Amino acid sequence: MPVITSIADLKRLHKRRTPKMFYDYCESGSWTEQTFRENTSDFDQIRLRQRIAVDMSDRTTASQMIGQDVAMPVALAPVGLTGMQRADGEIKAARAAEKFGVPFTLSTMSICSIEDVAEHTTKPFWFQLYVMRDEDYVDAIIERAKVAGCSALVLTLDLQILGQRHKDLKNGLTAPPKLTPPVILDLATKWRWGIEMLQTKRKTFGNIVGHAKGVENMNSLHTWTAEQFDPRLDWEKVRILKKKWGRKLILKGILDVEDAKMAAEVGADAIIVSNHGGRQLDGALSSIKMLPGIMRAVGDKVEVHLDSGIRSGQDVLKALALGAKGVMIGRAYIHGLGAMGEKGVTTALAVIQKELDITMALCGKRDVKDLSPDVLLVPDDFEGKWA
Ligand SMILES: Cc1cc2nc3c(=O)[nH]c(=O)nc-3n(C[C@H](O)[C@H](O)[C@H](O)COP(=O)(O)O)c2cc1C
Repeated sequence: MPVITSIADLKRLHKRRTPKMFYDYCESGSWTEQTFRENTSDFDQIRLRQRIAVDMSDRTTASQMIGQDVAMPVALAPVGLTGMQRADGEIKAARAAEKFGVPFTLSTMSICSIEDVAEHTTKPFWFQLYVMRDEDYVDAIIERAKVAGCSALVLTLDLQILGQRHKDLKNGLTAPPKLTPPVILDLATKWRWGIEMLQTKRKTFGNIVGHAKGVENMNSLHTWTAEQFDPRLDWEKVRILKKKWGRKLILKGILDVEDAKMAAEVGADAIIVSNHGGRQLDGALSSIKMLPGIMRAVGDKVEVHLDSGIRSGQDVLKALALGAKGVMIGRAYIHGLGAMGEKGVTTALAVIQKELDITMALCGKRDVKDLSPDVLLVPDDFEGKWA
């Protein structure tokens, strides 16, 4: 059994054990991948302030996100095709999150359906919505999420059209994969993945196939997205959706101060400062760079979360110290899932919690809720001057 000490260890195993098409789908950004790279490298610019002779006993990482108790303020982000990284991946990740005491968010583009995940968990999870052109479909999926007991709707606002990811086009990404000669060759070395996949019935988009009109087979994600996602989504529609949902609403994909102000104005319960993990607008600034400005603009009006680039508990601490109430992780838990299934997701969460806890202590804090900018050393020009 390999000794796992970091998310990087899980990433190496994920790459070894998962078909190239799906590993690449996870580990990529759009176009040149500049934003994808800077999401992580910008965290490294922020340093930590070592403090000593402070009582470090009785520490806690427990907190709240949108009023919900969490073992640490780290939620699992919505990730499409999670059930292709490992058979029944969404169920495995949701169960790991539930046992750990952190929120799980199910993507619209999941392989396991809302009902599947609800059946295999005992507590409410969050549901992420992509708004489609077909209003009947949108109304029906909102209803399905309510019936399944989802406690929050995460409305993604930064993907009405798809940022081009070169690797997916080159690999011919589909779910399930088309068995072309290169794919067969690749699968020959990924036997564990194949055996598990042969044993599940969940092999395509569970929230869509059989639910959206005329969609019986939509294995080409790119074509389907281009045809079905609603490019007319605007703030008026956000208001209407908020009313239809009627429970906690989290707006995802906010990267600009003006958009953050609008999100606060429509009455979101929380916003997620995010550039979709560098998968949409390449050339956009990293989430962590945009966080301080957004905090100054709306930090007292709406709960602010952050995602994109978090690979360690130290990254979590930096986001919290800059004012975020919580964060989401995407690739960090997908690496765990691809490496070791449910156990791997638990390991990813445990690695992050341990790093957060120990770093907090070495910065002289005992409670994650007390983190503030005074634990950080932020370079003067961190936010940059952009005209
Ligand atoms: C493979 C993959 C698939 C994703 N699918 C979705 C999705 O279906 N819906 C969504 O709102 N965000 C999606 N995202 C974005 C994540 O929710 C999140 O914003 C991002 O992963 C955060 O960056 P990180 O991976 O660096 O933590 C996806 C991200 C990845 C890596």
